[in-house]
Amino acid sequence: AIVEHTFNVGNLSISQLCQTARIITAVNGQLPGPTIRAREGDTVVVHLVNHSPYNMTLHWHGVFQRGTPWADGPAMVTQCPVKPGANYTYRFNVKGQEGTLWWHAHISFLRATVYGALVIQPRSGANAYPFPSKPQREETIILGEWWNANVYDLERMAYLTGMPAAHADAYTINGKPGDFYNCSGANQTYKFQVHQNERILLRIINAALNTPMFFKVANHSFTVVGADAAYTTPYETDVVVIAPGQTVDALMVAGAAVGRYYVAASPYDSAIPRGPMISKTTGTAILEYVGSAGNQAPVLPPMPAYTDTHTAFRFFSNLTALILPGFPTVPLSVDHHMFVTIGLGVSDCQPDQFFCNKSTTVFSSSMNNASFVLPKSVSMLQAHYRNTPAGVYTRDFPDTPPVIFDYTADASDNATMQYTTKSTKVRTLKYNETMEMVLQNTRLIAKESHPMHLHGFNFFVLAQGFGNYDHATAVNKFNLVNPQERNTIAVPTGGWAVIRFVANNPGMWFMHCHFDAHMDLGLGMVFEVQDGPTAETSVPRPPADLPQC
Ligand code: C2O
Repeated sequence: AIVEHTFNVGNLSISQLCQTARIITAVNGQLPGPTIRAREGDTVVVHLVNHSPYNMTLHWHGVFQRGTPWADGPAMVTQCPVKPGANYTYRFNVKGQEGTLWWHAHISFLRATVYGALVIQPRSGANAYPFPSKPQREETIILGEWWNANVYDLERMAYLTGMPAAHADAYTINGKPGDFYNCSGANQTYKFQVHQNERILLRIINAALNTPMFFKVANHSFTVVGADAAYTTPYETDVVVIAPGQTVDALMVAGAAVGRYYVAASPYDSAIPRGPMISKTTGTAILEYVGSAGNQAPVLPPMPAYTDTHTAFRFFSNLTALILPGFPTVPLSVDHHMFVTIGLGVSDCQPDQFFCNKSTTVFSSSMNNASFVLPKSVSMLQAHYRNTPAGVYTRDFPDTPPVIFDYTADASDNATMQYTTKSTKVRTLKYNETMEMVLQNTRLIAKESHPMHLHGFNFFVLAQGFGNYDHATAVNKFNLVNPQERNTIAVPTGGWAVIRFVANNPGMWFMHCHFDAHMDLGLGMVFEVQDGPTAETSVPRPPADLPQC
C-alpha cells in the first residue's frame, strides 16, 4: 500500500512556560507533528512544502532507505536543503522493519520542534506482533526539549562562536512540559486515559536534542518488546532508559488501582564533571484510569538520580534480539575493523566563525580527531553519484585514532588528542562488506555517553563496557547469538561499544552523535558504500525534484 502525507512546514504560535504566542517551526500546525502509520512493506510518500523562513530537510530516522538514498534527508549529506517556498517529495519503502521509528528535520537545530512518530505494524496488522500478550491499545510517547529561545538562532550562535549551545528550558512529553514548571497550566500537560487491566503498547521516542532520559510511570512496570524498530527478547523493568534518537516499545498493563499517575521523563546527564541539571526538573504527562476523580492529585514515580550511570548501563546492556525467521542475524565474518574515538576537544576555527584568525581555537568534537564539516556547494551524495568528490570530501577517514592514550584519564594528560582538525572525510566500503567498529568514548573536557546514530543500517551491538577497550578481554563477551539491533547506541559514559553491520546499501550514510550540539561541532563521519553488481544494488538516478544548492 501507499501511505501519503503532505507536510506543510511553517510557523506555529504556542503559549507555554510563561511565554505567550511564541513562534516555532512545526509541521501542519502540530507539535509533535503528524504520526505516519504504515505496515511493513508499504511505500511512504511525503510531500514537504516549506512555508517556513528556514532551509529545511526531513529525515526518516531508522528507515534503511535501500534503493532510495536521495530520500534520507540529512542536509548536505544526501541533499541540498529545501529553500523557503520550495517543495520536495520523499518516497521510500519500509521493508523488513517493524516497530517504532520517527522523523525529524535534519538541518540546524530545527528538529527541536519539527518531529513526529513513524509507526510500522506487521504486514498483516497488530495481531501479528510476536509478543506473549497482544496489546489492546497503543500510545505514542515522544520525549522532547523546549527552548524559550529561537532554536535556529541558538544553533547559528553556537556555530559562529564555536561554543556549545545552551541547555533546554524544559523537558516535554508529546510537546508539553507538564506540571512541574513555572506557569504550567491544564493545557500544558499531556493526558491519556486507560481502562483498568488494559494492555497498552507504549511507543516511546526520545526526540530531545541533547538529553538522554529516564522514563517511568508511577506504580506501573513494563515489558520491553522492541527498540529502534527491532524486536527484543521480552525484558521486565520499571524504568526505561532512552537516548536521543532511540525508540523503545514497551508493553504496560494498567493493573494499578483506579486513579491518576504521573508519566515522567527526567534527564540522564552522563556528563562528568558538570553541575546538576536539577533546575530543569522532570517532564510529566498524566495516565488517568477511566472512573477516577479528575481532580485527584497524581502519584509521582521516584526517578533515578541524573548521574545514575549504572541504571542506564543495566538497561542498555540487558537487551537482546528476539530471533525470528526472516529477520537478519549477526554476520560472523568481518572484512574491516575500525577503532574510533568519540569525544570533545578544540580545533582551528572555520573562516566564517567570529574571531577567527590563525591563533584562534574553538570548541569542537570529533571522531578519531577528525572534526566533521558539512560541504557547502553540493551534497555528498550528489558528488558521489557523479564521482566528483574533489573539493567536497576525501576518502582518508582513519581506521584508528592518531594517538593511543588512556582514554579515561583527565583531559590535561591528553593535550595532543584534544586538538582536532576540521575536514570532510569518509570511509569507503565495498558493497556487502562487513564492518566491525569499536566506539571508544574519550574523557576530553567531559566524560559523556554519546548516542551514536548510523543512517541507512541497523547494526548489531556485540558488547559494551566501561574504561579503555581491551580486545583480548572484550572479545570473550561478544554476543554472537542474539545481539540487539540498533540504529543508535548510547556508548557507555567513559566506556566503549562494539558494533557490526553489513554494507548492503549503496549510498552516503551519515554516522554522528545524536546530541545536536555535538553533531554541529563535528562529531560525525560518513560511510561511502559503493555500488553492487546490479542496477538494484546501485545508487539510482536522483529524483527530478531533488533540490539544488
Ligand atoms: Cu535522527 Cu542523522 O539523525
